Amino acid sequence: MRETDFKRKYDNSNGPLASSLYSFLQKIPKVELHAHLNGCIRPDTLFALAEEKGVTLSSHHFQPAKKNENNQNRYHTDDEDALLYNVQPRSLHDCFDMFAEIPRCVSDVTSLRRITFEALHDFAAHNVLYLELRTTPKVLNAECDKRQYLETVLGVMNEFEQSRTRPMTCRLIVAIDRSLSEQEACENVELAIDLRKSTLYADRIVGMDLGGNPTRGDFRIVRPHLERARQAGLRITLHCGEVADSGAMTSDHDDESSPPKYSETQAMLEFGPDRLGHALFVPNTLWSSQQRHIPVETCPMSNVMTLELAQHVRGHLIEGLQQHPQLREWLDTQYPLAIGTDDPGVFDTNPTKELWLLCRAFDLNVSMICRLVEQSVEYAFCDETTKRRLQKDIHEQMLLLLQSNRDK
Ligand code: IMP
Ligand code: ZN
Repeated sequence: MRETDFKRKYDNSNGPLASSLYSFLQKIPKVELHAHLNGCIRPDTLFALAEEKGVTLSSHHFQPAKKNENNQNRYHTDDEDALLYNVQPRSLHDCFDMFAEIPRCVSDVTSLRRITFEALHDFAAHNVLYLELRTTPKVLNAECDKRQYLETVLGVMNEFEQSRTRPMTCRLIVAIDRSLSEQEACENVELAIDLRKSTLYADRIVGMDLGGNPTRGDFRIVRPHLERARQAGLRITLHCGEVADSGAMTSDHDDESSPPKYSETQAMLEFGPDRLGHALFVPNTLWSSQQRHIPVETCPMSNVMTLELAQHVRGHLIEGLQQHPQLREWLDTQYPLAIGTDDPGVFDTNPTKELWLLCRAFDLNVSMICRLVEQSVEYAFCDETTKRRLQKDIHEQMLLLLQSNRDK
């Protein structure tokens, strides 16, 4: 990769070149390792489903997206102002209010198929070549139990790949919601293990995730089930350190004023997951040298929102992101990172915007971003043959892009 050419063509400073940076980033091949299916719902789809099913969305957070002059939804435009400012705050609390409401609208197989197709389409439109989508299996109605839920998502992935409108490889991570019962966790693990035995889905289910409201539940309750999943060949990613005192409900807090003891986070690190989600509050002293290599799925927009980093800077996302508790150090030390969107429909984001914000906030040039993307393939949960093919495709596409820009 010729760094000087990249630098000459794409400046990361303010001004007219900022939008050409966005266009360039839109075209580069990408990898998405941290996205929750229901959090990918397009706002327009949510409103349409709510109307169709007569659901009144009680939360004040759900408001139809404003249209710009070209009648495009604001969240799909690359208009500079729309990219720069956070117009709808989403605290951690707000997000979980919203997550409780989305399933009221995605309440049957038809709507599940719809949001899955749209999510795949939206990632592919940003030239995502490899997607690991995660979702918590749900009982939707009498016709759709947890197994049918997962089979529906997997079926859409099969159809999407076979249609070859866009060459995107899709994999599924089965999620556990930490706020639900141990029984639910156990069922999800059994289902994932069982579905992998089917030849139709064997390669497609690659891992398990622990997510959900970090102020509820505790990793230690579900650890034996995740251990069983690991023994069955599934890879494990854990949402970790989203708040300073996760696991406090069940463990080591004497009272609310006592400092966090991080014992849940410590247990997560000791478990040795394949990847960590977010890892915002993990004190330096907690990591052993071995654990320091666990790749982190980092989701810039989601972090700015849930940590409320832009609230004090007029909603300015770049300034907000510069307040991120870890990112600068991770980038400086070349910590293994995969950039994700988390919940594009909730956080008003997409894979291009995430890279754009990162470049702008931390003054990365495009060759650095390309390198970050290329490296993140290494942390994917797919098999080695798929990984090598992806690495080759991504590298070739990046070189071609550089070449065509040089020729202009
Ligand atoms: P689903 O699993 O497809 O229903 O996707 C939405 C779910 O993902 C939410 O209800 C949460 O359980 C989980 N989720 C989404 N974003 C976050 C996050 O930032 N932290 C923890 N869990 C999350
Ligand atoms: Zn997440």
